[in-house]
Amino acid sequence: MKGIILSGGRGTRLYPLTKTISKQLLPVYNKPMIYYSLSVLMLAGIQDILFISDKENQKLYRELLGDGHNLGLNLTYKIQEEPQGIGEAFILGEEFLEKDSCMLILGDNIFYGNGFTGKLKNSLSLESGAMIFPIYSKKPENFGVIEFEGDRIISLEEKPEIPKSNYIVPGLYVLDNSVVEKAKSIEKSARGELEIVSILNQYLKENKLFSNDLGRGMVWLDAGTFDGLLEASNFIQTIEKQQGILIGSIEEIAYRNGWIDKEKLLKLSEPLLKIDYGKYLVELANEK
Ligand code: DAU
Repeated sequence: MKGIILSGGRGTRLYPLTKTISKQLLPVYNKPMIYYSLSVLMLAGIQDILFISDKENQKLYRELLGDGHNLGLNLTYKIQEEPQGIGEAFILGEEFLEKDSCMLILGDNIFYGNGFTGKLKNSLSLESGAMIFPIYSKKPENFGVIEFEGDRIISLEEKPEIPKSNYIVPGLYVLDNSVVEKAKSIEKSARGELEIVSILNQYLKENKLFSNDLGRGMVWLDAGTFDGLLEASNFIQTIEKQQGILIGSIEEIAYRNGWIDKEKLLKLSEPLLKIDYGKYLVELANEK
């Protein structure tokens, strides 16, 4: 299983914040937004990751994350010239994926909750087909919406005016390698994008769309609007302060996964020692 992070787009819903910088580099409380999506792939145990961004910001992402070896990752980069839709990620990722399946996460999606790592790991056993992680939303019309017949998914619609349910598909997907051919075969939507829901509908037609409900205990945040960005920061701050933990610390996950040793973790904490983040990493390294 390989990972893809899609981190391009124009971020026009956050102008002027994103006029000069990629949305996914904006802060969500004490970390760049992108840490949260990268941490999801890492929690799943994925080390081979393709990072797709626009041309202007690629340099900044490379400066931030490098080739990933410091975290036990193998990060490669690819440019998306124009934001032509989430589906384009699989066409751009064809060579990287070779014959493998992938987990795709959007760079502005944040997930947090009990049991999430287990759900992620379970989804990796998917041999063929696609897996989505439905979640309840009060504003389904802003997302990919699921239509059910009983418990069965019968269709998916992108931002429908009249949503057929309150269940939406967040920006996290596990897909077998047929996704590359599927992405090549779909037509652009009215808004000019290769829509992820068109690809998922193809899996559905083949009876190969599976879902793993995130359930009530999970928090999912789309930080792509002013309110979403602020709410995400407030949420992370509340949990981190109350529980004394870090959410989305890529250094912590790398260490807990056994991809880096104590010495490396202490080295990574050095530039962060003036802040609680660094102190937390030192405590973690010294835990028995
Ligand atoms: O957040 C979940 C939703 O994400 C899903 O429910 C929808 O089905 C899916 O289409 C998507 O909807 P959005 O309207 O939120 O997509 P948006 O255009 O904001 O793009 C989501 C992220 O993907 C954002 O971080 C930018 C990045 N992106 C998007 C497109 C279209 C790219 O990097 N390249 C692209 O071409």
